[in-house]
Amino acid sequence: MYTSFSLGRAFLPLSFALLVAACGSDTPKEAASSDTPKAAAPVADKAPATPSYPAGFITADDITLGKDIDQGMVTEAKKIFDAKCHVCHGLTEEKVIGPGWKGVINERKPEWIMNMMLHTQWMVENDPDAQALVEETKTVMPDQELTKDQARAMLELIRSL
Ligand code: HEC
Repeated sequence: MYTSFSLGRAFLPLSFALLVAACGSDTPKEAASSDTPKAAAPVADKAPATPSYPAGFITADDITLGKDIDQGMVTEAKKIFDAKCHVCHGLTEEKVIGPGWKGVINERKPEWIMNMMLHTQWMVENDPDAQALVEETKTVMPDQELTKDQARAMLELIRSL
């Protein structure tokens, strides 16, 4: 009687100790794994919204979109389109070699569109969305050597579609 009682007493604290040890070793692991995605999420959310373009690239501050479409810019842009872009782009949603431009204004930020036109090589090498387009089209858009004003006019044409 006495022996088994003392065994029982001896086991009880031991099993408590094991329980505590088991919990103790699990808790930090769980905390670490649930903390990591929580800490990373805001950074991942921010990345596409605020890409860090190199100095000299177009930012949102460089672009003012009027309430109405600037028809003068659209006329100018159509001339450039006929001369330099129509081989690969269309003014509908349909892909030619590159994407059709209709609807692009709803999918991309205006500064992204202008940087794609003005800094094409950097964009296809560094911007995930531009890289996804290269994958899709299996073509890299050649640099079009547009001036900022010309690229701004092209943006207005894209907006007008
Ligand atoms: C030789 C073909 C070619 C020519 C010429 C060309 N592009 Fe492109 N363009 C592409 C391809 C292909 C893409 C998709 C990105 C890539 O694969 O490089 C693209 C992407 C774009 C995009 C982004 C479209 C989207 O869906 O987000 C814009 C804007 C653009 N081009 C503007 C122009 C302008 C403006 C011109 C003329 C001044 C022009 N491109 C001439 C092939 C061309």
